[in-house]
Amino acid sequence: MSNAGDSIAVALERLAAGRPVAIPTETVYGLAADALDDVAVQGVFTLKRRPPTNPLIVHVSDVSMAQEVIRGWDGRGERLAEAFWPGPLTMIYPKAPTVPGIVTAGGSTVAVRVPRHPLALELIRQHGEPLVAPSANPSGYVSPTSAGHVREHFTEEEVYVLDGGPCLEGLESTVIDMTREVPTILRPGVIGAAAIAEVLRSEVRSGVSTAFGTTRSPGVEGPHYQPVAPVVLASTIAAVTELLERVTGFAVVLPPPTASIAIEPPHMILAMPHNAREYARELYASLRQADAMRPSAIIVGLPDASSSEGDEAAIWLAVHERLRRAAARGT
Ligand code: TXA
Ligand code: MG
Repeated sequence: MSNAGDSIAVALERLAAGRPVAIPTETVYGLAADALDDVAVQGVFTLKRRPPTNPLIVHVSDVSMAQEVIRGWDGRGERLAEAFWPGPLTMIYPKAPTVPGIVTAGGSTVAVRVPRHPLALELIRQHGEPLVAPSANPSGYVSPTSAGHVREHFTEEEVYVLDGGPCLEGLESTVIDMTREVPTILRPGVIGAAAIAEVLRSEVRSGVSTAFGTTRSPGVEGPHYQPVAPVVLASTIAAVTELLERVTGFAVVLPPPTASIAIEPPHMILAMPHNAREYARELYASLRQADAMRPSAIIVGLPDASSSEGDEAAIWLAVHERLRRAAARGT
């Protein structure tokens, strides 16, 4: 057994040697490298098989480190940071010249956030430089929400895993583009448009727009978060039942949270929490657990979000977005 201090020491050594380290955050585990070391960052792209056109998020320990990687920090950023950092909000600003082009996929903007996990924060502080940290999964697969999930993809030799326990939020951070006249959410997360608008006391655009300007966000559209087994969505119990009749082999069903449903063998059921926050926390672990059974399909009953408000509504929106992309086929 090693204690936190020992594991941080190992992680620091690996980072200094340009080798990737998986870090716990409140959202999902990230595959970290020194953001200013372009060779180390290239190693992360290679290991994840991530397209070089998809930019990375830079993780910092506080606002002053954020200001080293961006230009044009303003009162809006200040207010959002005060309200939500450390936490699952990523802001996009024009990039500072110190940030290597590989991090931003050649673009003129950079995404930055302060993660809310004591081990991640301690690591960044002691390392003294910002870290890139895309989710620690092979590109396109379901994100990892535990150290064990990361280990399913990468060997000890490839990646040192800093084990910080299961992730508390379970969905990737909200990504907001601060370079537009109206701040625009490119990826929904547990921090919703309404909460952000309240802090800014101004309009916030939400939803992934198709009208990408210079801040195109290639990673926030199209298929993603995908298990090996096809994911099929169903809005009602009747739709789940109908889908089950057509499955050859067997399906694993993640039923709609509040519905009660009887599933006959050979099909299997993985019950999901009713509460939005808990559902989000468990979603990726459940998709992974379902996939590990090697079913011919994973049928997911979409949570009914129509009667929720506030933070709950924001979380369900993010859950729906992840599920839609998990179920999307083609390129
Ligand atoms: O919660 C999170 O954000 C996690 C944890 C580890 O911090 N990280 C994460 O990173 O989800 P990744 O690389 O899996 O997703 C980053 C997303 C991608 O969709 C990417 O396209 C977008 O952020 N992004 C990064 N930089 C951008 C930029 N300059 N402009 C627009 N989108 C950007
Ligand atoms: Mg990812």
